[in-house]
Amino acid sequence: MLTRLVGHGRRHEMVVVVTGASSGIGEATALRAAGEGHHLVLVARRADVLEEVAGACREAGAASADVVVTDVSDDAAVAAMVEQVLALHQRIDAVLHCAGIVSYGRTEETTADDFAQVVGINLLGAASVARHVIPVMREQGRGDLVLVGSLLGHIAVPEMTPYVVSKWGVRALARQLVIENVDKPGVRISHVAPGSVDTPIYDNALDDAGGVNSPPPPTISPERVARVVLDRVDARLHRSGEVQTAYLNYGMMAAFRLAPRTYDHVVGPLFDLVSRKRGS
Ligand SMILES: NC(=O)c1ccc[n+]([C@@H]2O[C@H](COP(=O)([O-])OP(=O)(O)OC[C@H]3O[C@@H](n4cnc5c(N)ncnc54)[C@H](OP(=O)(O)O)[C@@H]3O)[C@@H](O)[C@H]2O)c1
Repeated sequence: MLTRLVGHGRRHEMVVVVTGASSGIGEATALRAAGEGHHLVLVARRADVLEEVAGACREAGAASADVVVTDVSDDAAVAAMVEQVLALHQRIDAVLHCAGIVSYGRTEETTADDFAQVVGINLLGAASVARHVIPVMREQGRGDLVLVGSLLGHIAVPEMTPYVVSKWGVRALARQLVIENVDKPGVRISHVAPGSVDTPIYDNALDDAGGVNSPPPPTISPERVARVVLDRVDARLHRSGEVQTAYLNYGMMAAFRLAPRTYDHVVGPLFDLVSRKRGS
């Protein structure tokens, strides 16, 4: 339940910003928040798709659904987006940051442009969102910032170096933000780490090696991740923290940390078997 308790049990709709709302996890998160009757601000780059999602959110019960087209890798655009949300609603209760992209290819095959794009969107984009949202939440004395990272922010896999680097960075960013806001218990930072989720991110991947990529089984649905994301904003959970979306994540993390030599030899062939076919 996302509705925040106010005063003596009175409830009000929250102002919820969802980045990456035009697809996958962000879209599912927006629709789930809409079902809770909240005010939504949908953020991504494709205006036409966002408008469709906004329509679906209104139908699902959102108190309102506005679109703010923003490239999260553009710091000035993120600042303008936050201003626009404040102009619309005068407050921000939750920012659910789901925007992201992925690239494939060995490190030496990945162009500098693709490397910069992945890190620019996934990591620097998250930092820009934090840079402009945290001061608002600190001033309000409350607010939730949920950063969608990845299992790949805990482990390494071959041929995904920019993505892995960016997601380790997002996890570090979340931890930094927790420490920096420890004086404001109402300002909560969460890091959500999905494993394999069935979304278009694999089809849209940058791939300098010309491969075909798919989510490694077992996958979970974007709706399941959306539930985890929104649980972080639940009024009953009054703490910052980190959460995995599937138990399998813990097994992968244990193998990575406890048996690194075996892990390093096995992960490449396994990855090729279940997730990636390189181009010729
Ligand atoms: N799918 C998985 O298996 C998986 C696993 C672990 C973590 N994740 C993470 O979950 C998040 C969502 O991924 P997804 O699987 O739902 O992918 P998706 O379906 O491809 O959605 C990605 C979203 O990010 C938006 N986006 C991309 N670049 C952007 C930019 N520069 N500025 C603003 N928005 C941008 C896209 O919208 P526009 O193209 O309209 O801008 C889209 O709405 C990502 O951070 C991803 O790394 C996914």
